[in-house]
Amino acid sequence: MGVATQPKRVVVTGGAGFIGVHSVEALLETGAEVLVVDDLRHASYRPLPAGAELAVADIAEEPARAAIEAWRPAAILHLAAQGGVNRSWREPAEDAHINVLGTVSVLTAAMAAGCRRVVVASSGGALYGAAKRLPTPEDEPTQPRSPYGTAKLCIEHYLGLFTRTGSLDALALRYGNVYGPGQDGTGEAGVVAISSHRLLAGKAPVIRGDGSQTRDFTYVGDIVAANVLGLASTVTGALNIGTGRETAIGDLVHRLLVIAGFGGEAEREPLPTGEVARSALDNALAGERLGWRPHVSLDDGLARTLESFRGQV
Ligand SMILES: NC(=O)c1ccc[n+]([C@@H]2O[C@H](COP(=O)([O-])OP(=O)(O)OC[C@H]3O[C@@H](n4cnc5c(N)ncnc54)[C@H](O)[C@@H]3O)[C@@H](O)[C@H]2O)c1
Repeated sequence: MGVATQPKRVVVTGGAGFIGVHSVEALLETGAEVLVVDDLRHASYRPLPAGAELAVADIAEEPARAAIEAWRPAAILHLAAQGGVNRSWREPAEDAHINVLGTVSVLTAAMAAGCRRVVVASSGGALYGAAKRLPTPEDEPTQPRSPYGTAKLCIEHYLGLFTRTGSLDALALRYGNVYGPGQDGTGEAGVVAISSHRLLAGKAPVIRGDGSQTRDFTYVGDIVAANVLGLASTVTGALNIGTGRETAIGDLVHRLLVIAGFGGEAEREPLPTGEVARSALDNALAGERLGWRPHVSLDDGLARTLESFRGQV
C-alpha cells in the first residue's frame, strides 16, 4: 500500500480555507507541527486551530517561498488555489497565475527545502469533462471544460515531471465536489453551502439549468482522511477521492429542502458555460493504494452541514 510514516512537520498552503482548516485540525491531532501559508483572501469562517503557525503570504510570491524553505517541512499539503470555475472563465490569466505559477512556486520551495513529499488538491470533476465511463477511473482521458480544470491538469503535469526526474514524490488527489461545515456559502461555488445559507435565511435555493447534471458529493471529513493518508504514504501519481455515486443537483437540493423543512420550490437560473453534465469518481484505486474509502453518507453529511450553518446565517 506504500505506507511510510506520518510526517512530523507539514506545511499546508491554503490552510485557512474550507478544506484547509479541517486538514490542519486533523494533522495537529496526528501530533504534527503545522505551518499554514495562506494570504487569507478566502479564509473560512472557521478559525485556524491555535496550535498551527501562520505565514500570511501569496503562494505566487517570494515571501511564501522563503517561509516554506525556512521552515523545512517534511511534507507539504498544497490546497491554496483560485477555486471558482466561473471566475476562471472571467479571469483565466489570474486563475493561471495563482493555480499554475503559484503551484510551481510552491513545488520549487519544496525542492529547495529538501522536502520530497507533496500532496496536491486536484479535481476529478474539472479534469474528466464529458467522461465516457461513470464512475470515472483515473485512466480516463482528461478533457477539462474550464480554465480552472486546465490549470489543475497542468499542475498534475508538473507533479509528474518533478516526480519522474527524481526531485519530488508527488501525489495529486482528484477530489469530487467537496461539501461540509466551513464552506463559504456566500460566493458562487459550492452548491451545498450556498443552498444551505439561502434556506437558513428563509430563501429558496437556486438550481442552474434543469438540475439533471450530476456530481460526486464528498463530505469534507472523508477528503481530510485522504489528505492525511496521502501525506503519510509514498504513493505518487493521481488518485480519485470521491464516493463513486452520481447525485443530480435537483435531487441534492430536494434533499436539502426536506432536511431543512422548507415548504417552497427551488428557483431556476441558466446553466453557466462549460458546465459538466455528469460526474462520479471511481475510488477503487484510492482504496487499493491508500486504504481510503468514504464513510459519510450524503444525507448524514448534508444534515451535519446544515446544522453547522445554523447560527452563521
Ligand atoms: N471545494 C471543492 O469542492 C473542491 C473540489 C476539488 C478540488 N478542490 C481544491 O481543493 C483546494 C482547497 O479548496 P477549498 O474548497 O478549501 O477552497 P477555499 O477557497 O476555501 O480555500 C483556499 C484557501 O487558499 C487561500 N488562497 C487562495 N489563493 C491564495 C494565494 N494566491 N496565496 C495564498 N493563499 C491563497 C485562500 O485564502 C483560502 O484560505 C483547492 O486547491 C481547490 O481547487 C476543491
